[in-house]
Amino acid sequence: GLLLCAVIFLWALAGCVPSAPPLEQATTAFDRPLPIPPLAESRLMDGTRTFSLDAQEGSSELVAGLQTPTWGFNGPVLGPTLRAQAGERIAVEVANNLPEPTTVHWHGMHLPAAMDGGPHQPVDPGSTWNPSWQIDQPAATLWYHPHPHGNTEEHVYRGLAGMFILDDPLSQSLSLPQNYGVDDIPVIVQDKRLAQDGSLITDSQGNEIGMLGTTILANGVAGAVQQVETTRIRLRLLNGSTARTYDFGFDDNRSFAQTATDGGLLREPHETTRVRLSPGERAEIVVAVEPGEDTMLTSFPPDLGDAAAPSAFGAADRLDVLKLQAAPQLQPSAPLPDRLAEYGIPESDAGVTRTFQVQDRQINGRSMDMDRIDAEVALGATEIWEVTNTHGVPHNWHVHDVQFEVLDIDGAEPPPELQGRKDTIYLEPERTYRLIMRFEDYADPDNPYMYHCHLLLHEDQGLMGQFVVTETGSGGSGQTDGGGVG
Ligand code: C2O
Ligand code: CU
Repeated sequence: GLLLCAVIFLWALAGCVPSAPPLEQATTAFDRPLPIPPLAESRLMDGTRTFSLDAQEGSSELVAGLQTPTWGFNGPVLGPTLRAQAGERIAVEVANNLPEPTTVHWHGMHLPAAMDGGPHQPVDPGSTWNPSWQIDQPAATLWYHPHPHGNTEEHVYRGLAGMFILDDPLSQSLSLPQNYGVDDIPVIVQDKRLAQDGSLITDSQGNEIGMLGTTILANGVAGAVQQVETTRIRLRLLNGSTARTYDFGFDDNRSFAQTATDGGLLREPHETTRVRLSPGERAEIVVAVEPGEDTMLTSFPPDLGDAAAPSAFGAADRLDVLKLQAAPQLQPSAPLPDRLAEYGIPESDAGVTRTFQVQDRQINGRSMDMDRIDAEVALGATEIWEVTNTHGVPHNWHVHDVQFEVLDIDGAEPPPELQGRKDTIYLEPERTYRLIMRFEDYADPDNPYMYHCHLLLHEDQGLMGQFVVTETGSGGSGQTDGGGVG
């Protein structure tokens, strides 16, 4: 009798000990001014614009009234916006004041592989890494974030990320809102799970795609509002989440113009009511407002394609992100231009097609190996990468160094929002994406670039491969290393 009682007592105790429940969507009031990441200061050294980034620990008020231990660049969370002009030579002094090694990768940047900041360029605690390169690509909203081997999800989730905005004469001459922090607003969207004491919950509870939080942050705060002083405002949306895919729109379903994708301006503004962004993707949108009104940037339940258990992956979640509050009197913005940018890689330029089958944590049956080069690309080559998600789980696809264009999806023309220059694309399960890209300027047989799923848990778990660009490539003679040259 006594033994039974003891067993029941222990069983009850085990069942009842509350493991502190997470804060659920803690925010209903949207009254905290949206923090605008400061433009990073730079100094000119021998004609090179030089920035400094210092990765550090800190504490942040992600949710009003609660302190959360976080990591940031030059501050407790996120980082300043780096900004440079096409053609400029830049350098960054990256100091690591974290208790462990990290790296800083320039996502979307065309640059030498040794400057790329991937897993082969670790920065040890207490040391500094000094990459430099010339900006050689069109105006775009890029970003930077850590990429340490096996730890990328955690480092990004703790708060290390920032925007990297590129300008060029075309982008500056077009009548698009471009007054940073006034009518041209960076919006880094991330989801977190916080414990009652404010600490970050890092356990993804066995979810196959990683952490899905219900506390939604815009530039590091939940419940943010941005005052609008002009009749049009540009939002540079970055999905800086580790796993969650968003489908952005406004709560009143107003339409807006998408003007840019990851790699720069579209050919023309695309009028729409939604833009789906998977982790790592960006979109620039221009939205019109009336005096005195407000509207909520909202993520609607995203269409994740033919995923096996969509609601487990966030496909049922509607989440408020950022309130826009228009002033009673607005300054008129210029109408949007009809035409934006010209670009296009002709399919006939492509000499090599590689096929990539994404399954579970592998690409073409192999997991990431730091010591294996999966593909060798010839300098100057135009290639088609045919990527299939053969798995009933959401994945996406990111290629370093280049911006690609989508030729077709299952043979069909891509929708307008995927007709831009991209470096990351959502892969709906059981579909094949044909991507065309050109590998220019930088050959280096010793330093690989990465391609991988940008659901960062998947990346950490091996859904990544490495390619090098060399003077001659691997010959394209049917060598099937990695990409399976076809
Ligand atoms: Cu944004 Cu290889 O990463
Ligand atoms: Cu994945």
